[in-house]
Order: sequence, then structure tokens, then C-alpha cells
Amino acid sequence: MNILFSNHSLTNYRQLLSKSLAFVPTMGALHDGHISLVREAKKSCENVIVSIFVNPLQFNNPEDLKKYPRMIQNDLELLKQAGVDAVFLPSYETIYPPNQEFNIQLSNNSVESVFEGQFRPGHFNGVIQVLHRFFSLIEPDEVYFGQKDLQQCMVVKILIDEYFKHIKFNIVETKREQSGLAMSSRNLRLSKNELQIANQIYQSLLALKNKEVYSQLACEHEIERLNGFGLKTEYLNYVNLPNMVVSSDKNGNQAIVYAGFLGNIRLIDNLLL
Ligand code: PAJ
Repeated sequence: MNILFSNHSLTNYRQLLSKSLAFVPTMGALHDGHISLVREAKKSCENVIVSIFVNPLQFNNPEDLKKYPRMIQNDLELLKQAGVDAVFLPSYETIYPPNQEFNIQLSNNSVESVFEGQFRPGHFNGVIQVLHRFFSLIEPDEVYFGQKDLQQCMVVKILIDEYFKHIKFNIVETKREQSGLAMSSRNLRLSKNELQIANQIYQSLLALKNKEVYSQLACEHEIERLNGFGLKTEYLNYVNLPNMVVSSDKNGNQAIVYAGFLGNIRLIDNLLL
């Protein structure tokens, strides 16, 4: 497995490849959800490159950035076992050289400002800057993202449509613990008791998915139930895709989206309908 730290080593690696390249961007603290993206990528491309970079620009909360789990040796071991060809481990200066400006904007920016965009101001702008930079440096044929971050997927789809039409965009379904809890690097920061509570999020999503009739009232009932366990729900809504507009009309292209805090840990999840 090639471990690449600089743009120079990345360029050298890229130039030697003659076959297709899939790219899986991550922030490390890898779990089976991340590895499932690698597995899918390997099915359609000969080469797979994974980046590990905790991108400060997308953290609206400095404490969350400081406490974001970092476990690089374990990550490298998992990626090696998964059969990844190359890992890109850039420094901050490699991604954001001090003499360059990073201000990529999307013309279609409606998805960026709702839900995660509303509760984490600037978050998607940071995601867009880092991914634009990665896609330009790595020049992948395909990219793989997790449905776990559904709204991120919608934003990345627009980024690709507007700037990288030649890149094939793939979404991989959410990998869950046996309890139903969506795997997340932030779960590492939950106590045993908190993990039990976090499991309730999936139960609420399932209950809402199985409703005969979708309604805001049903969402509010589940919010009350979850908050009764100690969660502080930010949103729980039926939305239309890909525009993420709240809608309780059953139309076949929808999702239920959740975000909330358990103590200091922010959890998100969703189900496609
Ligand atoms: P990170 O949270 O590390 O996630 C990296 C990728 O793994 C994302 O596409 C995410 O949706 C996917 N993923 C996370 N948990 C998953 C799960 N349980 N099942 C399936 N896929 C899962 O998302 C980011 O990093 C960053 O925003 C990034 C795209 C790297 C830009 O900095």
C-alpha cells in the first residue's frame, strides 16, 4: 500500500496508473462503514485511493474538531487489510497552501443552507472546498460516499454536476451496528449507557418509515419520545430528494432525516423511503 503525504508523491502515483481509479475521502477513525465504501469501490475500479484528512474548514465547533478521534495506525492497518492501493495523508498546508485562496461556490446552493447547513453554518462550504481540492489533485474516475451523510451526498452531487462532470458519483448504503445504530467515528465518544439511548434514533426512523400516512405530527411525536431519553433533537423530518425540502406527501423519492445531540456528541441518521 502506497502512503502518500505530498502533492508531488500523489502526482507520481497518479501518473503511473493506467487503469481506473476510485477515490474514497474520509476523516479517519475508520470503521466498517468506511470500509464498505472501499469494498464497493473495488468492485468497479482496479485502483482505490483513500484520503484521511480531518478538514478544519468543515467544523463549525472547535471542540468537536479538537476531540475528533485520530487513530492513524489502526486506520492504515484496516485499509491495508481491505486491499487499498494508496492512502493520501496530506498536511493542512498541502491541502490549503497559504498563498492560494479557496472559495469555490455552487450555483445551485439551495441544499447547502437547510438542515445540516442551518445547524452547522459553514459546514458544507468547508466540505466543498476540501472535496474540490481533492478531486482536482487526485483526478479520480469514480468517487464513493456514504448514505449516512445523505445531505452531503446531495451537495457532492451538485459539486460534481457543476465542476467534475466526468467523475462517476456513487452512494453506498449506511452500515449499522446490530442494534441499528448507524456506524460513526463519533460513536467512539459515547458511553455504554449513551449507546443504548442512541439506538432509539433508528427505532424512530423505522417507526416513521412504516407509517401509513406521513405527517409532521408523527415526527413531533417521535421527537418527544427521543428527547424523553435525553436526546436533544435538532430536526426529524420527512424530506423530498434531492432538494431536501420538507414534505409529508408520499411521492417515492423521499427520506427521513435526523440530527440531535446526546451530551456533547452530535448524531445524524436517515432512512430512504
Ligand atoms: P467521514 O465522516 O470520515 O466519512 C467518510 C465517508 O464515509 C463519507 O462518505 C460518509 O458518508 C461515509 N460513512 C460514514 N459512516 C458510514 C456508515 N455508517 N455507513 C456507510 N458510510 C459511512 O464525510 C466525511 O468524512 C467528510 O465530510 C469528507 C467527505 C471526508 C470531507 O472532509
